[in-house]
Amino acid sequence: MLSGLVEALAGDGGRLSLLSRRASSSTVGDGFDCDYRDDAGFAAALGAAVAKSGPPDLAVAWFHTLKIAAPRMLAQAVRGRMIQVLGSAMGDPAHPDRLARAAAIADGLPDCALRQVVLGFRMETGGSRWHTGAEISAGVLEAIAADRPLTVVGQIAPWSAKPGG
Ligand SMILES: NC(=O)c1ccc[n+]([C@@H]2O[C@H](COP(=O)([O-])OP(=O)(O)OC[C@H]3O[C@@H](n4cnc5c(N)ncnc54)[C@H](OP(=O)(O)O)[C@@H]3O)[C@@H](O)[C@H]2O)c1
Repeated sequence: MLSGLVEALAGDGGRLSLLSRRASSSTVGDGFDCDYRDDAGFAAALGAAVAKSGPPDLAVAWFHTLKIAAPRMLAQAVRGRMIQVLGSAMGDPAHPDRLARAAAIADGLPDCALRQVVLGFRMETGGSRWHTGAEISAGVLEAIAADRPLTVVGQIAPWSAKPGG
């Protein structure tokens, strides 16, 4: 879903490191293969990326769960901004504590300025739908440029209008 964002960032003239299980197959940037659920593997990949290109001044992070060590490890490495991409449920108005708990990964880290991006949904005639990958990439790119503490791509209210909701 973030491949369009990766291509846009690759074109901005800076250095780009990619960390995922199949990152080395990417045609842009420096890929470091790792599973973010494997603490040691993620630490090694992040260390290799930092050794090659220095601490990230912009990190875009998508993790399926925050109950792992990787998000905090990444926040500790950042010297600039960390864009934390979050699923729709994180913006559910019935659980206002979720965003604060997600932001805790950067607690006590003055060098890591956290920005949160919640992936909402789109209303269209006849109902709602989830975003396409291209829409998500464009939304995150806009959030990076706007530099708000919190961006919702699309909408999360009314929560009852979400697809299948
Ligand atoms: N709100 C909306 O409108 C909307 C729309 C679309 C998707 N979404 C949500 O966004 C999420 C992402 O969807 P997606 O289709 O892009 O699939 P995905 O399977 O979450 O993959 C996203 C990226 O994460 C990497 N990744 C996944 N698991 C990993 C792991 N254990 N370790 C390291 N890297 C890992 C993948 O690369 P590798 O496979 O190379 O590791 C890929 O680069 C889904 O949870 C979906 O529900 C929301």
